[in-house]
Amino acid sequence: MRRLPPVLLEDGCPRELISLIRTVLAACKEISFRVGQGALSGVLGSTLDENIQGETQKKLDVLTNQLLKDILLESGYVKAIASEEEDFTVAGNPDAKYIVAFDPLDGSSNTDINSLVGTIFSIMEAPEGADPADQSIFMQPGKNQVAAGYVLYGPSTVLALTTGKGTRFFTLDKTHGTFLLTEDFASIPEETSEFAINASNQRHWQPAMQNYITDLIAGDTGPRGRNFNMRWIAAMVGDVHRVLCRGGIFTYPTDTKDPNKPNKLRLLYEANPMAMLIEQAGGIASTGTERIMDIQPNAIHQRVAVILGSKNEVETCLSYHK
Ligand code: F6P
Ligand code: MN
Repeated sequence: MRRLPPVLLEDGCPRELISLIRTVLAACKEISFRVGQGALSGVLGSTLDENIQGETQKKLDVLTNQLLKDILLESGYVKAIASEEEDFTVAGNPDAKYIVAFDPLDGSSNTDINSLVGTIFSIMEAPEGADPADQSIFMQPGKNQVAAGYVLYGPSTVLALTTGKGTRFFTLDKTHGTFLLTEDFASIPEETSEFAINASNQRHWQPAMQNYITDLIAGDTGPRGRNFNMRWIAAMVGDVHRVLCRGGIFTYPTDTKDPNKPNKLRLLYEANPMAMLIEQAGGIASTGTERIMDIQPNAIHQRVAVILGSKNEVETCLSYHK
């Protein structure tokens, strides 16, 4: 099986970008180890703090954020970082070319039940001559990403990675600490009979999503004329991985549950990198009205509606939104 650097070199990926990706992965290997230790290393449970988004921070949110931040800033490969767990962006090496946005531990409420969690990352180039302390360097649409990926800490630790030449899976060989290529070109089936949504929010959804899900649930007695199955892992990284592996539609739509928070998922750390992985595997990622990677961000912690997955099913869902 092939190691990551030669695979990327063959694609013509710049050496500096490969080094940066390897730096992110160095942190992820340590996270994989710590998550795997679970209760043995005393890292489960919550802190007494909330993050900038008003969510209770898990001990592992804080620890994984610090790890990624330290390793990335020490490396010299990044001009600045933006993290879901940081109030503001953090300046790095002024001479570096790249900026990294990350969700250090997606699905962290799953840590205490020994269920799926993962690290999501997005890499872009900083504008020429930009000040590393200037937050606006992150205000670029997702289509500018030069690499995106996640590391899923499950029964095995899997990296899904794209540098714009397809989506690949690498599996961490924990004996040697190496990510080995285990699927060269992930391809999402265009048709699916599986959907993922937090159905407890149904009464808060907008009419288009209400109608779409009602028709899925009606199965072979409704307009779709066939049955659908539902899954919800409560960690986007786990749900997106299932969609990349065997197809499906995943959505966290706009809702009216909390008027101050119409959308849940974050554009920079969650929606954009997942959208790139999905599109590179032949799927679609939309808000319901526009392509996720076309959105011009106006704040680092901006949230968006997400509908992604199998091409034909996402298109059907979007037709309800017209
Ligand atoms: O990071 C936000 C997140 O935890 C996603 O990973 C996940 O898809 C979603 O929120 C879960 O939401 P809920 O708590 O509504 O199930
Ligand atoms: Mn998350």
